[in-house]
Order: sequence, then C-alpha cells, then structure tokens
Amino acid sequence: MSLWYFENSFKENKIMKIGIGSDHAGYRLKEELKKQLRKEGYEIVDFGTRNNKSADYPGYGLKVAESVSKKEVERGVLICGTGLGMAIVANKVKGVRAACCNDLFSARLSRLHNDANVLTLGGRILALEFAWEIVTLWLETPFSRGKHSRRINQIKSIEKERFI
Ligand code: RB5
Repeated sequence: MSLWYFENSFKENKIMKIGIGSDHAGYRLKEELKKQLRKEGYEIVDFGTRNNKSADYPGYGLKVAESVSKKEVERGVLICGTGLGMAIVANKVKGVRAACCNDLFSARLSRLHNDANVLTLGGRILALEFAWEIVTLWLETPFSRGKHSRRINQIKSIEKERFI
C-alpha cells in the first residue's frame, strides 16, 4: 500500500473529539486554535485555563492526558510557553504519547513513527498561522504501523512493568 493511499484513506476516518488545555502562556493560542478547530467541525473539550492569569501547567496537562488515556477524547492538544512542561506532565499518564512539536517535521514524524496522541505546543514560540499548520498536519497524519508498531508495543510493555 502506498503512503499516499494510506494517508488519504485515513483522512476519511477523521479524528473528531479533541481535548485541549493550556496554562496562561498558552491561553491565547488555545482560544484561537479552539475556534479554528470548531470551525473545521471538530468537537472540542476545553479543560482550561479560562483566562491569561498565571496558572500552573501541570494540572491542566494532567486533565487532558487523563481524558486521552480514558479514551473520552481521541487526541489531546496542550499549550504552555514552550510545550515542554506540558509534554513532561502528559507523558506521566499511562497510554499517553505526548510529543512537543514546534515544527512541521516533528509533527509529521510524531504521528508516522510514534503514534503520538497528545500534541504539545509553545505558545511563546509559535505564531497562530504556523501553529495551525502544525495542528492540522498532526491531526491528519496517520500512524505508519509496520516496524513502528513493534516499538510502540515495547513502550506499552515498559508502561506495564513500571506503572502501578
Ligand atoms: C510559564 O512561565 C512557563 O514556565 C510554562 O508555560 C511552560 O513553558 C513550562 O514548560
């Protein structure tokens, strides 16, 4: 099966329900992305924060990651200043593969190779237009499976051994 066929057939099974969250540093970008995503027909569950007052990122990251882990939402998008803190938090949750992608190449490869189910972004790094390009590419890129499935299964085994 060609990659073209694979990527295009996947688009028909479009991801619909997305959990989103941010701290104060990601708030503006969260609000903009939320609007755009809703316009495109995605169902968005917003886990906060609700304004740009200083807010600690771990709590918001955890809520979105848990929602992905419980399969209440299909994917998660988390925004802090750099995307780094949110990725660190989200990756503490079983079943979550969070990738901090402030460029298009990482966004694409985080889906093709890592089957990332949470995208974290830097609200202090990215302009809205570029963030939107990253988000849409990330949502529309399928997992390429094959040898990468074996590696994801290895991650799952590590989780099983280490998590209570
Ligand atoms: C908040 O100042 C900042 O530390 C936070 O948004 C994030 O970038 C942490 O990783």
